[in-house]
Amino acid sequence: MKKTILITGGAGFIGSHVVRLFVNSYPDYDIVNLDALTYAGNLDNLTDVADKPNYQFVKADITKEKSIADLFTRYSFDGIIHLAAESHVDRSIADPLAFIRTNIIGTINLLNAAKIQWNGNFEGKRFYHISTDEVYGSLGKDGMFTETTPYDPRSPYSSSKASSDMLVRAYFHTYNLPVVISNCSNNYGANQFPEKLIPLAINNIKNNKPIPIYGKGDNIRDWLWVDDHARAIDLIYHQAKNGETYNIGGINEWTNIDLIHKLCEIMDEKLGRVKGESAKLITFVTDRAGHDMRYAIDSSKLQRELGWTPSLQFEEGLEKTVDWYLANEIWMEHITSGEYLKYYENQYANR
Ligand code: NAD
Ligand code: TYD
Repeated sequence: MKKTILITGGAGFIGSHVVRLFVNSYPDYDIVNLDALTYAGNLDNLTDVADKPNYQFVKADITKEKSIADLFTRYSFDGIIHLAAESHVDRSIADPLAFIRTNIIGTINLLNAAKIQWNGNFEGKRFYHISTDEVYGSLGKDGMFTETTPYDPRSPYSSSKASSDMLVRAYFHTYNLPVVISNCSNNYGANQFPEKLIPLAINNIKNNKPIPIYGKGDNIRDWLWVDDHARAIDLIYHQAKNGETYNIGGINEWTNIDLIHKLCEIMDEKLGRVKGESAKLITFVTDRAGHDMRYAIDSSKLQRELGWTPSLQFEEGLEKTVDWYLANEIWMEHITSGEYLKYYENQYANR
C-alpha cells in the first residue's frame, strides 16, 4: 500500500543505512529524508539512492518549529522514523545546549507536528523514535540493560536522549500517539563520522597518527553492525505494538583496548605493514569526563518477539568496515577537512 514515511537524520551514519534499506525494500513507500546537514550529515552517503523515484531529500532543521510545521502541511505522513540528533558524547561535554535544542526541542517539534497532522486518526500511523542504550547509565562487571532497567543517564548526550524518550512516552500516554522506541548499543560500519572510536582509529592508523585511548582503555562497549540495526528498525517499524520499547544489541562486548588491538592487526594486514606496526600508534590520553564504564544490552525481547538476530561476527564486520574506509578515501578526505580539523585540535590537543 502506498505510504509516505518521513525519516529524520537520514544523511547521517545510521540514518543513511535506514533510508537505503527502506527505499530499496519498499518501492511503494515514498521516503522523505529530512536532514539539516550539520557537520555529521552528508549526502555523499546516499548517492546510490538519490535518483530513485521513491526518494526525496528535504533540508530542514528540527529545532525550527515553523519549518517543521510547514513541512507537515506539504506532506501527509503515515510514519515517522526519527533519527536526527546530536550524537557524540564528547561534543555534548563541550556544548550541552546544542544537544538540548536538537534532541529535546527537535523531538517535541516532531511529536507536535505528528499529533496535529494525525488529529486523533491513528489508524496505520506510527511515530518511531530511535534511541540509545546510554540512557540506562553505566554497568559494573555484571548484568545487562533490559527494557525495564531504570534510566540513569550520565552525559549531556545521554540525558538529552533520555529526555526525548520520556517525551515520546508522554505523548503515547497523554495523547495516544502511536509511538515505539528502540534503544541500541554502539553501531559500527560504513559511513560513520570519524569522531567516533572505530573510524577515528582507522583514519589515524592509515595516516600514522596516534590512536587516542581514553583512560586505561578498559571501558566496555557492545558493538553492533549498522545494517543489523537498520534491519531491526525495519522489523520494529512494521511489527511492534504501539507503546513498546525494544533493546537492540550485538551480544558483542569488547574493551576499547582489545578492540583497537584487533583493528591494528587488521590494518597491518590490509596496509602490508609488519605485524605490530600499527599498535605502536596506541596512545593513552586523559580520560573522558564521567566516562561510562560498561554497556551491555539484553536484546532477548526483540529476538523472541520479532525473530531478530545480529547477522555478522565482529571480526568479519570490522574487516568489512576497514575495507570500506580504505576504498572510500575521498569520502574521508571531504569530511576531515575544515570543521573536523578544528574539532580534532580542540578535542585532542591538551589530553
Ligand atoms: P549522526 O551524528 O551520524 O547523524 C545525525 C544526523 O542528524 C546527521 O545527518 C545530522 O545532519 C542530522 N541532524 C542533526 N541535527 C539536526 C537538526 N537539528 N535537524 C535536522 N537534522 C539534524 O548520528 P548516528 O550515529 O547516525 O545516530 C542516529 C540516531 O541513532 C541518533 O538519534 C542517535 O542517538 C541514535 N543512536 C546512535 C548510536 C550509534 O552508535 N551511533 C547508537 C544508538 C542510537
Ligand atoms: P564513541 O565511539 O565516542 O562512542 P560512545 O562514547 O557513545 O560509546 O566511544 C566508544 C568508546 O571509545 C568510549 O568508551 C570512549 C572511547 N574513545 C576513546 O578511547 N578514544 C577516542 O578518541 C574516542 C572518540 C572514544
